[in-house]
Amino acid sequence: MIAIRPARPDDLPQILDVLRAALGETPLLRRTPALWNWKHLENPFGTSLVLVAEHAERVVGVRAFMRWELELPDGQVLRCVRAVDTATHPDHLRRGIFRRLTETAVEMAQTEGVDLIFNTPNATSGAGYLKMGWRRVGDLGVIVRPRVGPVAPIEPDDLPRLTDHVAATDPLEPYPTPRAAVALRTPRREEYLRWRFERHPTARYAAVRRGGGAGIVRANVRRGRRELVLSEVLGDVDPGLFREVARRSTSRYVATWFSPSAPERRLARRALYASVPGLRTLTLVARPLRTLPVDVFDLGNWDLSVSDLELL
Ligand SMILES: CC(C)(COP(=O)(O)OP(=O)(O)OC[C@H]1O[C@@H](n2cnc3c(N)ncnc32)[C@H](O)[C@@H]1OP(=O)(O)O)[C@@H](O)C(=O)NCCC(=O)NCCS
Repeated sequence: MIAIRPARPDDLPQILDVLRAALGETPLLRRTPALWNWKHLENPFGTSLVLVAEHAERVVGVRAFMRWELELPDGQVLRCVRAVDTATHPDHLRRGIFRRLTETAVEMAQTEGVDLIFNTPNATSGAGYLKMGWRRVGDLGVIVRPRVGPVAPIEPDDLPRLTDHVAATDPLEPYPTPRAAVALRTPRREEYLRWRFERHPTARYAAVRRGGGAGIVRANVRRGRRELVLSEVLGDVDPGLFREVARRSTSRYVATWFSPSAPERRLARRALYASVPGLRTLTLVARPLRTLPVDVFDLGNWDLSVSDLELL
């Protein structure tokens, strides 16, 4: 018999075991209690909705919905959850555990008055979400600007270091004022930005500044290649800031992404950042829980940057 119940604090070691068994770990993504607590307890949007599946007194499945908000240009705020961290132990696959966990979590979110669920599933879970009423919003890609000139030699170890590519600075000092939403956008309140960029337990961020603008970056490895990810831009942003990030970095290229409606996308293009044809990183899917004032299945109605999507 498999029972579905809300997670308790003492389930955490077993939850992390299930995530490790199902999803593995990479040097950049260790499934530590600190990362779990940052995402699910310390998130300024609230404590996550977490369910587990239990069999013979062991946790065999986990389902977490992170609290989130999306703001519309007229100031309306949608209460959201992001379907993240889901896994079924490899010994219990295809018995409906993911489905039962997800359907129960959806019912709970609906009862609480949540407006919208969104997430970026991987290939394994994508089909399951579509069967359970989610729909595709669109594919997300990468835009890059290669470096002209010498690149820094990098020590061959496992972990990319930010300081291999760019000088270490506090990403939010002085504080760069965020712009208003032009479409569905994570409200960039100061509390959120400090949690996102200063209190992340593993990812290190720095800012490249020009005038009143700040480009917030982190070091990354993509398909074995080291890159600098431009995760966010804040303050007075112009194409010069995008050029400055590429100029000040010693990484082979800078990678970023903004949704089509985000003004930064045009600014990045003017600074010679170009889409990588055919490279799709993630697929955004959504499931509204009531009738919403905006068509969430149109990617043009989302105002996104990299920092909204990845939680590194
Ligand atoms: C994705 C995962 C959570 C599914 O767990 P599960 O408990 O086996 O899933 P369920 O039995 O509830 O399946 C529900 C539906 O999902 C889909 N599904 C599940 N596993 C699938 C697979 N390997 N291939 C294709 N579809 C799959 C099916 O539509 C299935 O419905 P069906 O059985 O009626 O055809 C599980 O495979 C897993 O833990 N994978 C590794 C971790 C992971 O990828 N997590 C997602 C992170 S975004």
